[in-house]
Amino acid sequence: EKTKSWKSLINIAVSGAAGMISNHLLFKLASGEVFGQDQPISLKLLGSEKSFQALEGVAMELEDSLYPLLREVSIGVDPYEVFQDVEWALLIGAKPRGPGMERAGLLDINGQIFAEQGKALNTVASRNVKVIVVGNPCNTNALICLKNAPNIPAKNFHALTRLDENRAKCQLAHKAGVFYDKVSNVTIWGNHSTTQVPDFLNARINGIPAKEVINDTEWLEKEFTERVQKRGGVLIQKWGRSSAASTAVSIVDAIRSLVTPTPEGDWFSSGVYTNGNPYGIAENIVFSMPCRSRGDGDYELVHDVVFDDFLQERIKKTEAELLAEKRCVAHLTGEGNAFCD
Ligand code: LMR
Repeated sequence: EKTKSWKSLINIAVSGAAGMISNHLLFKLASGEVFGQDQPISLKLLGSEKSFQALEGVAMELEDSLYPLLREVSIGVDPYEVFQDVEWALLIGAKPRGPGMERAGLLDINGQIFAEQGKALNTVASRNVKVIVVGNPCNTNALICLKNAPNIPAKNFHALTRLDENRAKCQLAHKAGVFYDKVSNVTIWGNHSTTQVPDFLNARINGIPAKEVINDTEWLEKEFTERVQKRGGVLIQKWGRSSAASTAVSIVDAIRSLVTPTPEGDWFSSGVYTNGNPYGIAENIVFSMPCRSRGDGDYELVHDVVFDDFLQERIKKTEAELLAEKRCVAHLTGEGNAFCD
């Protein structure tokens, strides 16, 4: 009989653990499809007082599933306890937006949560913790979080824009009449909001520039762009709640992109801290950009991308929105008095 060699246990914190996204995500984490079949995990679930019973229910279901890789499940409402020694923090918990709301409308309500969680991570998490912020408005929440965690590298914080990348790939594949795996090099630039810029200039289909394959600039600039920008909102209208299953899938994709080497010539999008970026984007914000990883949990920004006027102009617009969001939460980032326009 072969003896399996296990890696050492890692602690993974998930906030909003009693919510819909987590209900999909936690079972994927436990099954080994995210961190690998040789990686035992401990799941540390953060919820609120209000959701505590549901949190207990989630923990019961996880235990009853007898996942061989899931060695511990713990629950709590205090981030200073739950984040103890975590290597990954998946920050999902936040008030979600309802029909007709913009994500920025949640700035005030949710910012406080991420300031507190940043402080808790700073105090008790692994010094190399990787943080993925999902709760909206996720870019600015990630900024608030990293500003409150000065002892953790700012580079370790991500805002989830992988769902937008997946949505963009799906649309390009449909239009080109190919399977989605033929679509590569798709960047989402900027904010996870309706100003986001799904980049069709650098995207490739079967290795050929998407613009050449699709050959319909009007569709790319208008329909494609808007469809991706508004996909989350349209889904809320249809479901009466925000996307959950596809969000969980995209969190899995985002983590896997950091723990496995990026395929040659390709990249993935993530909302990351802009300091030192090579694109001339304003520093000191969290902006979705193209990244590559060696599979060690870290990433570097991709240099060989091209820009045209359309792309530049759109990038400026989403940058302006993020700078405005940042001014509106200055009291939470330690940068003076808030000013919301
Ligand atoms: C999404 O993009 O589906 C989520 O961020 C939910 C939302 O507010 O749109």
